[in-house]
Amino acid sequence: MTTPTGIEAISLALPRRYLDLEDLARARGIAPEKLTVGLGGRRMSVPDPGEDSVSLAATAVARLLAQTGIERERIGQLIVGTESAVDHAKPIASFVQGLLGLPHTMRTYDAQHACYGGTAGLMASAAWIASGAADGQVAIVVAADVARYGVGTAGEPTQGAGAVAMLVSAQPAVLALDLGVCGVSSADVHDFWRPLGRREALVDGHYSIECYLEALAGAYTRWRSRARGRGLLAEGAGSLPSEHLARVLYHVPFCKMARKAHARVRQADLEAIDAAANEAETALSFDRQVKSSLEVCAEVGNVYTASLYVALLGALRRDADALRGRRIGLFSYGSGCCGEFFSGVVGDGAAEALRKVGVEALLEGRERIDVAEYERIMGLPVDPAPWEEPLEGRYRFVGVADGRRRYAGGRGGPQIVRLS
Ligand code: COA
Repeated sequence: MTTPTGIEAISLALPRRYLDLEDLARARGIAPEKLTVGLGGRRMSVPDPGEDSVSLAATAVARLLAQTGIERERIGQLIVGTESAVDHAKPIASFVQGLLGLPHTMRTYDAQHACYGGTAGLMASAAWIASGAADGQVAIVVAADVARYGVGTAGEPTQGAGAVAMLVSAQPAVLALDLGVCGVSSADVHDFWRPLGRREALVDGHYSIECYLEALAGAYTRWRSRARGRGLLAEGAGSLPSEHLARVLYHVPFCKMARKAHARVRQADLEAIDAAANEAETALSFDRQVKSSLEVCAEVGNVYTASLYVALLGALRRDADALRGRRIGLFSYGSGCCGEFFSGVVGDGAAEALRKVGVEALLEGRERIDVAEYERIMGLPVDPAPWEEPLEGRYRFVGVADGRRRYAGGRGGPQIVRLS
């Protein structure tokens, strides 16, 4: 029998400021409904240059350690999934190791494939634990990103930033993964990319939606056939295979994408039985299986690698007790592209784990800024980052000294460097 493996605990870090999308729409002379209904968002996180992917990742890991009280010696690997690297060679994982004083015995690396990197880290960690190679150790997987398209671009309202850290272990109190039951669909496409040296991504937006949906259809149908093979779909007459999932969570570059994605999954099920889609049923199924997962995504915007896991936080924040013992589906998509559909069973400790994340307090603790301030922040150079006293328990990038990136905050000590 395979060892149960999956997510034992989870944490979240967000930038301290946000922009309301209705304010952005008014400033750009477009109907607010295009952003709130057409794209489905409400607010987006606005990181300043001090809130880079390292500082967000370190803050999320510090919270995970505090929430779980895990003994540091038990951490055998730390993987950061990101597409917002700060260095061509040195991984974010090693910065986080140094800032938090994590063990020198652990494996550290970053995983990059656009928004898929966090899931790549989760799968590698789960396989490492399930194989027995971890020998009782646990892994930390962080998905950390700054989604930046630039002022005045079509992608502007789909920006955001943040980090989700997950403790992966053989005590999956939050989500026990169905190991080996996954479907992958990958291809060499140019739907979204960021050439070396550029701060902003290049994107063929509408094409990226097509690539996402095609990868989803391929990944979902492969997952479905494996799930059937393992007897995970107790199918009855009159219900679609996807309806056996209590929730389906999607990568959320903008909230409306999850609605399109869910319709595509149902279409894949209907095609298999030669049936036609019914709009009202699709809408009902979206409300039942997907909607609650988007509440936190709508507040923070796109967080690239972390978006799927922000959706997980959204679903569990609302319904962890009701979902206990029930199977959910998850779809991760990274442009370029690689899509993976996988599933897992919500654990007994999900509600308690979510209480410790404190999602409400993190959202409510943010400061609303106006469009002028957002544009000022977007125009700031990355080095040196504006000095701000780091808030309690948070890390900040402060600038480069002697060619080395310096950070402030956290638990104090030599990493605090003030640049005059
Ligand atoms: N009221 C309500 N809805 C409105 C509206 C209004 N006044 N005006 C437009 N809309 C709807 C459109 O009908 C469309 O909905 P649909 O996709 O269901 O048809 C939606 O708002 C978006 O409008 P569109 O004209 O397609 O927006 P856009 O050309 O500005 O681009 C993206 C949208 C997502 C392509 C763009 O923001 C982008 O490139 N984002 C980054 C890439 C990305 O996130 N890709 C996702 C896959 S990884």
